[in-house]
Amino acid sequence: MKLLHLDSSILGDNSASRAISAAIVSSLTKADPSLEVTYRDLAAEPLAHLTLDVLGNPEGTPELAQFLDADVVVIGAGFYNFSIPSQLKAWIDRIAIAGKTFRYTAEGPVGLAGDKKVYVALARGGYYGEGQPAAAFEHAESYLRAVLGFIGVTEPTFVLAEGIAIDADTRAKSVAAAIEEAGSLAVAA
Ligand SMILES: Cc1cc2nc3c(=O)[nH]c(=O)nc-3n(C[C@H](O)[C@H](O)[C@H](O)COP(=O)(O)O)c2cc1C
Repeated sequence: MKLLHLDSSILGDNSASRAISAAIVSSLTKADPSLEVTYRDLAAEPLAHLTLDVLGNPEGTPELAQFLDADVVVIGAGFYNFSIPSQLKAWIDRIAIAGKTFRYTAEGPVGLAGDKKVYVALARGGYYGEGQPAAAFEHAESYLRAVLGFIGVTEPTFVLAEGIAIDADTRAKSVAAAIEEAGSLAVAA
């Protein structure tokens, strides 16, 4: 089985989502050492914005093939300006392709990538869970669930770390809890 590991945080070694996505990959590969891991750092090697040329020839760039080829995808994402890093959006723009990962039918759109298991490590500076005053500003988890569901990945697993920007202690506890949660994901691999 092939695992595609993506990171998109711009914060390098200080990134919470990178630490958590690495913990997810570590757990999954411990459970199944035969997993073939491909790593892409979308911040270090950013994709350009989507253009008509790329959209017209999605097989001309490797992202779609790499995604279609993967059985498991682990995505690390920071919560930036209420949404995902634009580096990750540029990647999504290359894999959400009609006829490849979804198609339109008379009954509505059908996802074609439902054979994949997707894990998302998402780190948010504040609190955006249900019932929080800022819940309506959460456009990262909600967006990723929407677009992944659209292409057929209806049950992605999110590992969240919240309150990262509150203070050092809150951050440390939140990241540690997420890393611990990541450890138990090995069972689902
Ligand atoms: C450019 C930028 C924008 C951010 N915007 C928000 C925001 O809108 N809401 C929030 O709660 N935290 C925000 N934060 C804090 C991040 O969500 C937090 O630092 C988180 O750890 C980012 O993930 P990362 O550490 O993996 O990069 C922002 C951070 C950066 C660098």
